[in-house]
Amino acid sequence: MTAFSYTEHPSPTALEQIAEILKDPGFGTNFTDHTAVIDWTLQDGWTNPRVEPYGPISLDPAASVLHYAQEVFEGMKAYRHADGSIYTFRPEANAARMNTSARRLALPELDEQLFIESLEQLVAVDKAWVPSGDGEALYLRPFMFASEAFLGVRPAHEVSYRVIASPAGNYFGGELKPVRIWVSRDYVRAAPGGTGAAKTGGNYAGSLVAQQQAADNGCQQVLFLDPLHENAIEELGGMNVFLVTNDGRLLTPELTGTILEGITRSSVIQLAKDRGLKVEERRITLDEWDRGVSDGTITEVFACGTAAVITPIGELVDGDKSIASTGTGEVTQAIRDELLGIQTGTVEDRHGWLHKLG
Ligand code: PLP
Ligand code: COI
Repeated sequence: MTAFSYTEHPSPTALEQIAEILKDPGFGTNFTDHTAVIDWTLQDGWTNPRVEPYGPISLDPAASVLHYAQEVFEGMKAYRHADGSIYTFRPEANAARMNTSARRLALPELDEQLFIESLEQLVAVDKAWVPSGDGEALYLRPFMFASEAFLGVRPAHEVSYRVIASPAGNYFGGELKPVRIWVSRDYVRAAPGGTGAAKTGGNYAGSLVAQQQAADNGCQQVLFLDPLHENAIEELGGMNVFLVTNDGRLLTPELTGTILEGITRSSVIQLAKDRGLKVEERRITLDEWDRGVSDGTITEVFACGTAAVITPIGELVDGDKSIASTGTGEVTQAIRDELLGIQTGTVEDRHGWLHKLG
């Protein structure tokens, strides 16, 4: 594979304008000046790695992704440290997960080194866009899709891999505060043998009607239930979920093949074990959650993911019933501070999770 070629944006965003955007980055609305791209064909494999100006993609209307949703993506962040250097977090885990997702969607795998290099190359040219405020980062969105113009249903012979980048603050907007979660009783997210453990657009498309119901009921996210086991919880539309007990345990649903294996989830599990908490990955029901909150054995509940970082869950709404939790509990706050501290370079990276991007 040849080195990445670089075509500079003809009119990059002025530094003053970037500074204005970084004052309040929001989530997913502003994009940097460049994108990393690699093409794939069945015949030639991965070719033509490049960084080029960010802009609309020209796609044939018959491109299979538009019809059959053959697509996978990743979500990760670049963090600015106090000395101005830029790091990302566990990128080899994202590379591995993208390949797991790609196998499930019959897309080609991308070499881990090439995946990481695409991030390095993009961030090298757009590093002015990496914010430095509390909980802020440059969100990186690698994605891969079937670009072949063909309406037959089979794995595409032409695929495009791209990375775009977007400065990000709190996913839920404004200051960090506990969120309200809606229990989806009408829709499931995933079933055994399906695509729940893959990070593929279709999972999110299928969650939108439930997300709309959540919003209509004043909630910010949906909690999906296990389709096979009554009242067992799985995960939120875009986050994993944890419960904290009053006797030093941390509970989270086990990975059964229908839940996305979050990299934040596995990092939280490690950090919790490091601080002496007992982690239980097992089936958890809404009844256990409800009972635990009522009798005080469950003291905190939080959601976690790259976009959400660690966000306390303040209330769970299940139809007419509501299960209140505490605000931001001590354990939630401590794990959030430690995780963000590692990511932003203020806490020692004792697990070797950081990867320097520039
Ligand atoms: N679950 C779902 C469905 C997600 O979309 C995400 C977000 O990426 C997560 C969990 C958390 O994964 P991670 O911590 O790797 O961002
Ligand atoms: C992430 O946390 O990176 C996600 O992909 C969740 C959501 C924004 C889809």
